[in-house]
Amino acid sequence: MDASTPSDDVLRELVAAARAVRANAYAPASRFQVGAALLAPDGRIFVGCNVENASYGLTICAERAAVCAGVAAGVRAFAAVAIATDLPDPARPCGACRQVLAEFGAAMHVVLVGAGDARVATTLDVLLPQPFTFGS
Ligand code: THU
Repeated sequence: MDASTPSDDVLRELVAAARAVRANAYAPASRFQVGAALLAPDGRIFVGCNVENASYGLTICAERAAVCAGVAAGVRAFAAVAIATDLPDPARPCGACRQVLAEFGAAMHVVLVGAGDARVATTLDVLLPQPFTFGS
């Protein structure tokens, strides 16, 4: 565990926020609700849920909704993200969300939770080793 690793208490809070906002997901098409919570360096938490649309391709994933909430508040880097679904095996974020998250913390901590107590802890650079950038 390095200095940038959020404490267990903070990660628990992040998971609770992701689980709570999941209830607000708008998912009439898939019935699959996702909640995401991002941790800003100053400790603030920004949440998002998936928002589907009758024009299916316009669906916004929970992770990207959370990124937009944080960025709109002026945040430009995130230390961690928690993502909640109700699957037995916690869902992994989609590729598009991995790329969008990487823009604001290529190695941020990632905690994935599902219906039960199973919890997957990883980092974004493991999930997306070589994101697109305009150069190093
Ligand atoms: N979804 C997310 O919110 N995040 C992901 O990383 C993958 C999928 C949403 C989109 C859609 O509303 C539903 O889950 C089913 O794909």
